[in-house]
Amino acid sequence: MSSGQALIEELTALAGEAKNTLGQASSFEALEELRVAYLGRKGRLAQIMAKLPGLTAEEKRQAGQTANTVKEELTAHYTVRLEGLKRAQDEAMLAGFDPALPGRSHPTGGLHPLSIVSDEICRAFSGMGFEVVTGPEIETDFYNFEALNFPPEHPARDMQDTLYIGDNILLRTHTSPLQVRTLLSRKPPVAAIAPGKVYRRDSDITHSPMFHQIEGFLVDKGVTMADLRGTLTFFVHRIFGPDTLVRFRPSFFPFTEPSAEVDISCVMCEGKGHVGGQTCRVCKSTGWVEILGCGMIDPNVLKAVDIDPEVYSGFAFGMGVERVTMLKYGVGDLRLFFENDVRFLGQFA
Ligand code: PHE
Repeated sequence: MSSGQALIEELTALAGEAKNTLGQASSFEALEELRVAYLGRKGRLAQIMAKLPGLTAEEKRQAGQTANTVKEELTAHYTVRLEGLKRAQDEAMLAGFDPALPGRSHPTGGLHPLSIVSDEICRAFSGMGFEVVTGPEIETDFYNFEALNFPPEHPARDMQDTLYIGDNILLRTHTSPLQVRTLLSRKPPVAAIAPGKVYRRDSDITHSPMFHQIEGFLVDKGVTMADLRGTLTFFVHRIFGPDTLVRFRPSFFPFTEPSAEVDISCVMCEGKGHVGGQTCRVCKSTGWVEILGCGMIDPNVLKAVDIDPEVYSGFAFGMGVERVTMLKYGVGDLRLFFENDVRFLGQFA
């Protein structure tokens, strides 16, 4: 037998052997070992090929062709087995659990209680035709005080401990500047509601340096205190329930005249002043809790925004969102709103 013939037989034998061993490799490691042994740089195939240079040209051609075919076959057997092992691995993994099981649910976020109540209040008023407006938290003295009838050096400016940024620039102490901004850009009839953050130099158990207010106002011909009372009563019934009582107490604000503070019957003791024989801690046994300030817009404010107080009149009110939320949900501590404790927040989700 020529040495070329012998080489071809060697190759054929290798192909037959490798087909079996590769096909039966029982692990990725075993398969890899076989690949190196047959197809590696110093593997069996390479060893046989190393003998090619000793052959005649014709023998080289034939043996070389066979070698290529065998290499392709071995590679194909290797690939088939590799896929088979991968499939077996996937199946073993799937057998370990039930793929039809529903996925784990992840906790989802929810709106902050202050957002929930603020939205609810705004909805109550937009249902009555009030439009929602917003304005800057950094204000000038003009919008926060001057146009609202706080004269310079007026002690009323000290009523609210203002955080100043510059000479005439400050963090708004209330949402009332939105009365001025809105009425300067729109002519009556105007009915608007303005939610937003406000700032005061105040920080203790019941005061936060930043808190939320909602301002509301309406200007038209012939607006009276009765309109104010009707509007606020509707709002109170929407937020606190139809049995809640509303009372007006005389008060003072530079930008309203007359001015009033509005109380509602205590949400805790329903106005009785006591709960189960105990003094009510929410209304301190008075049966009433304060929820907002309001009044008829002062003629000086209307003049400041170029509206003739002889022709038009209007009412305005402002309330603290934290306060309304505490009353509505019986939250006893203001700080809970700002601590971001999910055990608290999750109860509103
Ligand atoms: N701006 C007042 C405050 O912050 C509330 C208020 C608004 C009172 C509108 C009357 C009219 O206390």
